[in-house]
Amino acid sequence: MKVLVTGGTGYIGSHTIVELINHGYEVVAVDDFSNSKPIVLDKLKEITGQKINFYELDVCDKEKLRRVFKENKIDAVIHFAGYKAVGESVEKPLMYYRNNLDSTITLLEVMDEFEVRKIVFSSSATVYGDPEELPIKETAKLSTTNPYGSTKLFIEGILKDVYISNNNYSIAILRYFNPVGAHPSGLLGEDPNGIPNNLMPYIVKVANKELPHLNIFGNDYDTPDGTGVRDYIHVIDLALGHISALEYIDKHTGIDYYNLGTGQGYSVLEMVSAFSEVNKVAVPYEIAPRREGDIAMCYADTTKAKQVLNWEATHSLQEMVESAYNFVVKNQK
Ligand SMILES: NC(=O)c1ccc[n+]([C@@H]2O[C@H](COP(=O)([O-])OP(=O)(O)OC[C@H]3O[C@@H](n4cnc5c(N)ncnc54)[C@H](O)[C@@H]3O)[C@@H](O)[C@H]2O)c1
Repeated sequence: MKVLVTGGTGYIGSHTIVELINHGYEVVAVDDFSNSKPIVLDKLKEITGQKINFYELDVCDKEKLRRVFKENKIDAVIHFAGYKAVGESVEKPLMYYRNNLDSTITLLEVMDEFEVRKIVFSSSATVYGDPEELPIKETAKLSTTNPYGSTKLFIEGILKDVYISNNNYSIAILRYFNPVGAHPSGLLGEDPNGIPNNLMPYIVKVANKELPHLNIFGNDYDTPDGTGVRDYIHVIDLALGHISALEYIDKHTGIDYYNLGTGQGYSVLEMVSAFSEVNKVAVPYEIAPRREGDIAMCYADTTKAKQVLNWEATHSLQEMVESAYNFVVKNQK
């Protein structure tokens, strides 16, 4: 089976390519390097022993994308490409709507032209807004608090309409919780440009003395220690979730939604202390005011992914924090 991976040199895309190759899939990857670097291709080759069939292109560029489909008999697509920084999406909403929606619509048009009907889409737990019930089930009410989240909701809607128009499609919408960690080789990991938005890359930069301290936004939430609780999932477990989703959509038409998380919530303070203890490194922090739009707790009910996709996260918190730090130590700039 030949799988097109958009956003293939990004954080989750690159780890997923490794697992696809490990599982015997043929991979074609595309990326415009707007948030990743060409060196990832060398790292992928080092890990997998294979040169990646790669095209540098913007997925919104229909002519270039068509060429990929003409030159390769694509069986299924995993669509990671998109912008993902919540804060930036509030400042530049049109840039987010343009890129995330345009790339998806262009991709779906080209898939339709070439009669490719199988797609796995990267959605996010952000589509649950401030959840009314925990753990969060796929049937929970959907809402968003920022343009990034809105792009995910709109795309979920577009995919649903595409399926309604043609029931031959097989679509898996994966709602990721909080991916962290890195490949054990230290060759692949999360390497965001500028000041990181998410907790783990920020902790890593503080531990590595690239930033003076971690700001913890609020310690008066209704949680056991007052800091926000999230469902962190090792990026390799997440990558394996895509393999399970591909196996499933290969055999079943339809559209369905799956939470990919561990089902276990950890607070910011728990993450900081696990990181310090496991890596034996200080992570100085300061308590800062709450951040607009942040919620107290968010963790997944993962029953559906277990039952339907036969998938479950297995990596421990220790492996998450250890591998995240290992990546930075091995890639000192
Ligand atoms: N990392 C998370 O916390 C998280 C959580 C939930 C959902 N997601 C979603 O998962 C997907 C992958 O996330 P990630 O963390 O690997 O992000 P990432 O930024 O590391 O990877 C995305 C990749 O897509 C590329 N890209 C962006 N727009 C493109 C375009 N128009 N054409 C070609 N390439 C383009 C970027 O260069 C980048 O390499 C995204 O859709 C993101 O919204 C991520």
